[in-house]
Amino acid sequence: MEGAKTNICYNVLDHNVLTRNLGEKVAYHWEGNSPDLRLTITYSQLLKQVCRCANALKKLGVKKGDRVAIYLPMIPELVYSMLACARIGAVHSIVFAGFSSESLAERIMDAQCSILLTADGVYRGEKLINLKQIADEFLLVHSEMPLGQGVSTTQLPFLKFKTLWNAECDVWWDEAVDNASEECDPEWMDAEDPLFVLYTSGSTGKPKGVLHTIAGYLLYTSLTFKYVFDHHQDDVYWCTADIGWITGHSYITYGPLANGATSVLFEGIPVYPHVGRFWEIIEKYRVSKFYTAPTAIRLLMKYGIEPLQKYDLSSLRVLGTVGEPINPEAWMWYHDAVGQGRCPVVDTFWQTETGGHVLTPLPAATPLKPGSATLPFFGVLPIILNEHGEELEGEAEGYLVFKKPWPGIMRGVYGNQECFENTYFKKFPGFYVTGDGCRRDKDGYYWITGRIDDMLNVSGHLLSTAEVEAALTEHSAVAEAAVVSRPHIVKGECLYCFVTLKDFREFNHSLMDELKRKGKREKIGPIATPDFIQNAPGLPKTRSGKIMRRVLRQIARNEKDLGDLSTLADPKVVEVLLSQRCEAAA
Ligand code: WTA
Repeated sequence: MEGAKTNICYNVLDHNVLTRNLGEKVAYHWEGNSPDLRLTITYSQLLKQVCRCANALKKLGVKKGDRVAIYLPMIPELVYSMLACARIGAVHSIVFAGFSSESLAERIMDAQCSILLTADGVYRGEKLINLKQIADEFLLVHSEMPLGQGVSTTQLPFLKFKTLWNAECDVWWDEAVDNASEECDPEWMDAEDPLFVLYTSGSTGKPKGVLHTIAGYLLYTSLTFKYVFDHHQDDVYWCTADIGWITGHSYITYGPLANGATSVLFEGIPVYPHVGRFWEIIEKYRVSKFYTAPTAIRLLMKYGIEPLQKYDLSSLRVLGTVGEPINPEAWMWYHDAVGQGRCPVVDTFWQTETGGHVLTPLPAATPLKPGSATLPFFGVLPIILNEHGEELEGEAEGYLVFKKPWPGIMRGVYGNQECFENTYFKKFPGFYVTGDGCRRDKDGYYWITGRIDDMLNVSGHLLSTAEVEAALTEHSAVAEAAVVSRPHIVKGECLYCFVTLKDFREFNHSLMDELKRKGKREKIGPIATPDFIQNAPGLPKTRSGKIMRRVLRQIARNEKDLGDLSTLADPKVVEVLLSQRCEAAA
């Protein structure tokens, strides 16, 4: 579509209001963290809010091609601001509002964002997160921050925070938006102009800015939404993801809006104020299509079916999952207890990089197998390769790659073409490499077996072990750290950390607490909290000094057979590590 002109905001809003007559249709039922907070937003209201926000951004100096950092919780302003960027041709870079100030700053600097949109704070469950303060923490010490006009803060009406205020660069959202016009001409963009950057963990430890462009992404998210959720105009659709992740970009904002869908936009968490919160919301809005993550299903499964029985779930038609492999037990519970045996479960496999679903069932059309993402979406050509890059036929297990591009594939790593080529195309020339392992059964069904690079998937969020290791080794007592994944009953995988201390430093509880904090708040965010920390006087290394993570993974998982240890420089370290394994979480 290169050379064609379009505007994605026009397509998902104006087109619905002007040509499809959906102006009065509800675009979002916003449901707050607290059940008494809610708001209904129709398509025409959404269009007006987006235009006001777009005009405000322009007034703050944002131009076509500029990058805008967005660090907002799941409030309507998050949708307004991303679409406002798209309307004026600015590139949004959304940073999940659970990330630390350092992660935020790293992303702002990498994309050279000219402005940051944030909120004073948010309650997630009972926990208060003071977003503006977190943002300021880093801005204060880093004068090289590219932010020009600075920070626009939305003050949530129900929170009254004392927020540090720098009149030179801070602007209140309401003041910026209140007097802005409700009309704003869209900027006509080339089909291949950038739409957004979204950072994903890199295996080297540095997050990569995954770049998506406009028309292909619009086509792909719109089409996959329509077919994978079998969208009908009277549906009420709910995806519980956060817009800070790709699932929210593709399947809360762009895909559903392009189809003129009515969605629930939920600010809260599954267990607040009670463990039946999801089921309560499904009943309240008569949700027909429900999309969530295996980690949430496993969490709610723990409470049994009693919380489900209090609510009427008869509106449900299709259930979806995304983010990590779903174990058949959780799949069955989702299908039988939540879907009452009536609703197909679509296990959608995809990545930030793929833009939309690439392996997925089509509800009621694809015979299902619990735990399998089944078959490729239209136009997607999956291949399984062995270590030598040879294509495997029939029943096989190996590296999952794709042989042909599809409209939603990422177009680059922001500012780093070399990293783009090295990460995805170098290992097996001629293929896009997912980094996931995969098995194909005798019926041609695909089963994702998990990451095969140095990455792990905690509650559906990718983390690189290198990133967590870097955070731990920043502590003055730590000489070396190696982090591996260990299966976790709710989170899927969790972090098991081996740390070697510097001479004369003692391994004790207060050090453990400090290390836990390192990974968590200061560096990456709460998802990177180490679950297990083991003192490792030595690490298993090859003669060339490479840490043998395979061995560490096996120790962490308490596997008895450690396989071939002959390439280790000093096999004795393994015995020591085995004798001091952590049984209980830190
Ligand atoms: C994993 C999330 C098995 C996989 C949309 C992938 C899955 C990574 C599934 C991408 C699934 C996602 N079955 N594994 N249905 N969906 N994954 O970029 O390891 O946050 O590579 O995108 O999640 O995570 P990302």
